[in-house]
Amino acid sequence: IQAEALARIEAATDTRSLEDARVAVLGKKGTLTEVSAGMRDVPKEEKAAVGALLNTARNAITAALEGKQQGLQDAADKKSLEGIDVTLPSRALHHGSLHPLTILRHQAISILRRMGFALAEGPEIEDEFHCFDALNTPADHPARNEKDTFYFDSGKLLRTHTSSVQVRTMESQVPPVRIIAPGSAYRRDEIDATHLSVFNQLEGLYVDKDVSLGDLKGTLEYFFQEMFGSETEVRFRPHFFPFTEPSFEIDVKLHVKGQDPRWIEVAGCGMVDPAVFEAINASRKNDGAYDPAKVTGFAFGMGLDRLAMIRWGIKDIRLLIENDARFLKQFA
Ligand code: PHE
Repeated sequence: IQAEALARIEAATDTRSLEDARVAVLGKKGTLTEVSAGMRDVPKEEKAAVGALLNTARNAITAALEGKQQGLQDAADKKSLEGIDVTLPSRALHHGSLHPLTILRHQAISILRRMGFALAEGPEIEDEFHCFDALNTPADHPARNEKDTFYFDSGKLLRTHTSSVQVRTMESQVPPVRIIAPGSAYRRDEIDATHLSVFNQLEGLYVDKDVSLGDLKGTLEYFFQEMFGSETEVRFRPHFFPFTEPSFEIDVKLHVKGQDPRWIEVAGCGMVDPAVFEAINASRKNDGAYDPAKVTGFAFGMGLDRLAMIRWGIKDIRLLIENDARFLKQFA
């Protein structure tokens, strides 16, 4: 049986005929299987000797099967490589790259986190309280106009700025609060080279005992110089926001090769208006964890799209949402 099986295995030319050979000897009705079944009738004193003989045969056959299987596989591999130069370099893959806004956001977050700001977030579908009322924005303020803000039938709205996250954070955390909140904001603007109806802001808020205007200036000056280079000039121009007093707009003057230096507005900021603290104290029902009369704070908000446009000299904001690979691959 063994000799016959080995010959048949040796003669097999493909996996199919090899499998046939295996079944013929080791299968349910295979020759060796049948002989093994005969062990029952072997007299006791001969069982050991016959058993050993059967084992030797089985091992030899199994080894031959495995050897042949490997041989067939090797031959098949070799054949499939015929005419192929495995030393040729492969075709280049197309690499994806980070979107410029993503690059910029990561960078801004990492600078601010180093300064101790933690990430916070809030809903994009907001109510008027968190977007306007608590931020001391009167009912007749132009920003609340239906012409400028997307309202739902429910009376909710798409937040027009990330400043709503200031309110939500102060409702849930007692001072000291030091957070940043990057996120989308929505306005019903006519779409053109500098406006989209959705854009990206980054909000910041620091509330603690004795936070001063000096802290605000120092923090933001440092931020923009980390962002755009230490030679960047930063200036604070008096402005008005309902939720800060005093309020400022921040301009920066970049010194980048190939760009003529000029002042560009990049952010709004100011000291948190006491009216905001009052609105929040009323809505969060201060449990006495801190004395609201003793805290002050500053807040800032910047447009990330705008920062990206300035940083890379992007002339049209729409490029940021068109997903044109020719544009996007420049930021790899
Ligand atoms: N929310 C203001 C805006 O969208 C920016 C801002 C944030 C101003 C925080 C002051 C403080 O224009």
